[in-house]
Amino acid sequence: MMNDKELVAFEAAKLAKNGMLIGLGTGSTANYFIEHLAKRQAKEGLKIITVASSTISAIKAQACGLNLVSINQVKQINLYVDGADEITPNLTLLKGRGQDLVMEKLLAQAADQFIVVADKSKLVNFIGEKFIIPIEVMPNAWRIVKSHLEKNGAEGDIRLNTHQDNIAVTASGNYVLDMRFPRNMDDESLNILLNNISGVVEHGVFYKLADKILIADQGIVSSM
Ligand code: A5P
Repeated sequence: MMNDKELVAFEAAKLAKNGMLIGLGTGSTANYFIEHLAKRQAKEGLKIITVASSTISAIKAQACGLNLVSINQVKQINLYVDGADEITPNLTLLKGRGQDLVMEKLLAQAADQFIVVADKSKLVNFIGEKFIIPIEVMPNAWRIVKSHLEKNGAEGDIRLNTHQDNIAVTASGNYVLDMRFPRNMDDESLNILLNNISGVVEHGVFYKLADKILIADQGIVSSM
């Protein structure tokens, strides 16, 4: 029997059609999507090309037998399917725990359709309810950006690596600030603030990007 993450990914894989260029997200739910896409390719002869949002997803896709192109060969994609860390009632997402948020946002913006797949645990009332907000910054700019954010009421610090013995570096060679913002700052204001600070390469607030959210809850998939 499929767990909720696999079930929702299985449903999303049904959206793939012959000839599509499909973006692959990052995370455990996106991994299930990659597996089910590959199964459809093997069983039904589905003809698709994929582009991955991270090296880890590219490795997974390759191991499953999917055809991959690099993101620099792509102008637009038909479908992007990815998980999320938080989802609000107005479909704003928090993403980027896995660090490749620039690639994730690029694919989300380049997609004709961006479908989010998640289990019910990802539903929140506001962005930042459960997770800190990741902000990818140019290495030289991290102190200035952090200070700017603190003046706007944020608290947090630079992200360290898994062993906590060095600064974490993203796939694009940048640093990440993990910040909490005042509760009264809504998604739109947060998005505007973060979009307008020099030195911020990208941030984890995905505002008005998702076309549809598929949520699985105890074996039942519904959409938002
Ligand atoms: C990766 O950087 C995030 O944006 C993921 O989409 C997120 O962490 C979802 O992961 P799970 O599907 O494993 O919950």
